[in-house]
Amino acid sequence: MADVGIFVGSVYGNAQHVAEQVEDMIAGKGHSVEVFTDPTIEDFTSSKSVLFVSSTTGQGDLPQNIEFFVMDLRDKMPLMAQKPFAVAGLGDSSYGDTFCGAGKQIFEVLLELQGKPAADLLIVDAMETLEPEGDVVPWVETLLPQLVA
Ligand SMILES: Cc1cc2nc3c(=O)[nH]c(=O)nc-3n(C[C@H](O)[C@H](O)[C@H](O)COP(=O)(O)O)c2cc1C
Repeated sequence: MADVGIFVGSVYGNAQHVAEQVEDMIAGKGHSVEVFTDPTIEDFTSSKSVLFVSSTTGQGDLPQNIEFFVMDLRDKMPLMAQKPFAVAGLGDSSYGDTFCGAGKQIFEVLLELQGKPAADLLIVDAMETLEPEGDVVPWVETLLPQLVA
């Protein structure tokens, strides 16, 4: 059972790259961590805390690699009993109303499952930063005490 399970939604690899940088940081601090790119409910329930790093595609849509997993979470409702979670959403504000739609959807689902947010949704705008890991890694570092408590 990993201390932190990182659930990645990515189309072109940006979110995946960020997740791997976060994984290195967490592992470097001596915690067990696992990255899931094709996650199952079992991966979710067996992680002591969950971190989602997801881009948005289409028009506010979830990346295909986690679309069915998130649908499964909504259908099966594996309650989290205040398990800590955090969500980093990668998006692009030039998409207007659908900006970071996937991150927002995921955050809502985890609240419905009665997880405990370690922080508000982190929104990373591709219009403002070319290196999303520069925002996400230090952010997770500040949350780590809550995620591995
Ligand atoms: C076809 C396409 C559709 C996109 N749709 C949205 C969107 O609706 N909302 C948003 O915030 N970003 C949108 N984006 C921007 C991506 O989320 C952003 O570029 C992200 O960094 C991609 O990360 P990834 O490589 O992990 O998929 C879209 C990008 C593409 C190429």
